[in-house]
Amino acid sequence: MFDKATYVGRRAKLRELMKDGIIILFGYYPFRQDSSFLYYFGLNRDGLVGVIDLDNGTETLVGDDIDIEDIVWYGSVDSVKDMAERVGVANTAPMKSLKSICNEAMRQKRRIHFLPPYRHDTKIQIFDLLGIHPVQQKEAASIELIRAVVKMRSTKEQQEIEELERAAVIGYKMHTTAMRLTKPGLTEKFVAGQVDSIALSYGAMTSFATIFSQHGEIMHGNPSMAELESGRLVLCDCGAETINNYCSDNTRTFPVNGKFTERQLEIYSIVEACHDHALDVAKPGVKYMDVHLSVCRLMTERLKELGLMKGDVDEAVAAGAHAMFLPHGLGHMMGMDVHDMEALDQIYVGFDEETRPNLEQFGTNCLRMGRRLQEGFVVTDEPGIYFIPDLIDDWRASGHCKDFLCFDKLDEYKDFGGIRLEDDILITADGCRFLGKDTIPIRPKDVEEFMAQARG
Ligand code: GLY
Ligand code: MN
Ligand code: MN
Repeated sequence: MFDKATYVGRRAKLRELMKDGIIILFGYYPFRQDSSFLYYFGLNRDGLVGVIDLDNGTETLVGDDIDIEDIVWYGSVDSVKDMAERVGVANTAPMKSLKSICNEAMRQKRRIHFLPPYRHDTKIQIFDLLGIHPVQQKEAASIELIRAVVKMRSTKEQQEIEELERAAVIGYKMHTTAMRLTKPGLTEKFVAGQVDSIALSYGAMTSFATIFSQHGEIMHGNPSMAELESGRLVLCDCGAETINNYCSDNTRTFPVNGKFTERQLEIYSIVEACHDHALDVAKPGVKYMDVHLSVCRLMTERLKELGLMKGDVDEAVAAGAHAMFLPHGLGHMMGMDVHDMEALDQIYVGFDEETRPNLEQFGTNCLRMGRRLQEGFVVTDEPGIYFIPDLIDDWRASGHCKDFLCFDKLDEYKDFGGIRLEDDILITADGCRFLGKDTIPIRPKDVEEFMAQARG
């Protein structure tokens, strides 16, 4: 938790951004506290709701004190009053009073702002309180509140950046553990389990389910019981969440036996160049959609040199031909959630009136972040090249983008797998920089040296 002034200040700014009515922020726990509740109230206990009255300026922490039976099982915890005091909230109220707070506001025809709920228990709670059926709650959520929360959470405060750096340090330990342990004969699951234990030991948990797979071409490939095989690449996409709930998200792809083949290096060097290119062009005022497209053009140029693509580069990218290799976007916002604020709806997080998503085109429709960058944003830079046998067959059969793809050459790569390289970028006043103290080995030479040293 940050200090009291943080939460007092954030709620005051939220009140300034909003007009009238009351805001209800629902908390959750123990699985994972809701990030927006955490952002404004900082408290990691279940059964709490924050109410902000925009018209009279009062703030209330709603929740019940635990009873003696709970104390027997779970130990003693602070009272709701003590918790409210810790985050500068003046009033507390028992949970049963939430219904009368809502009834009174509805009777006076005041607006009641809530964020789109994503957990079934909250949907039932909102149904009980406001009479809105769960299927209508996404639509009924307050766009004004979503916009205000996105505006504030998008720009990271200095103390948030420090927390993200702490997550990156744990992420470094996770990735270097994976590189150190990887060798033929171990199972994917064994290495992934060791990687996860680092996150649990140094932080709160992993920031998402660890991807550790020799099938790098499967975007979210779960670690399996398959044994690691010499000659193959393994893709490791993982991150940590700190005790204060800030995330890291990095990907490395490296050879199981510690030495890249020439063919692997040819593809790797393209992904590496795309990863570096994003760092050169991302800065305040630039649309992340344009960074994405610039990376797609560079990738297309380089794939043409290898004989995997053909034709005019701009036309190929406009037609979405590069999505054969890169069927996802270059990156997403990152912060308290690994796909930051995802629950608030990507359209409000990654886009705005000026920058609309392209929902029609395969690949580009997966871009989560397109709008203009601002100082303090944290986004991921995660280009990849994947050879997905079913996609190759599908496009060949339909003739999709046949003017830009060399299908005969593509067939030779059906056993290749996939490569992704990912780091987290902080947008600075005049450019950007990667988060993290030490760079997880990324240059092929550094990866090979690191793996050789680990093996003694
Ligand atoms: N780990 C999921 C992602 O990189 O977006
Ligand atoms: Mn990732
Ligand atoms: Mn990511």
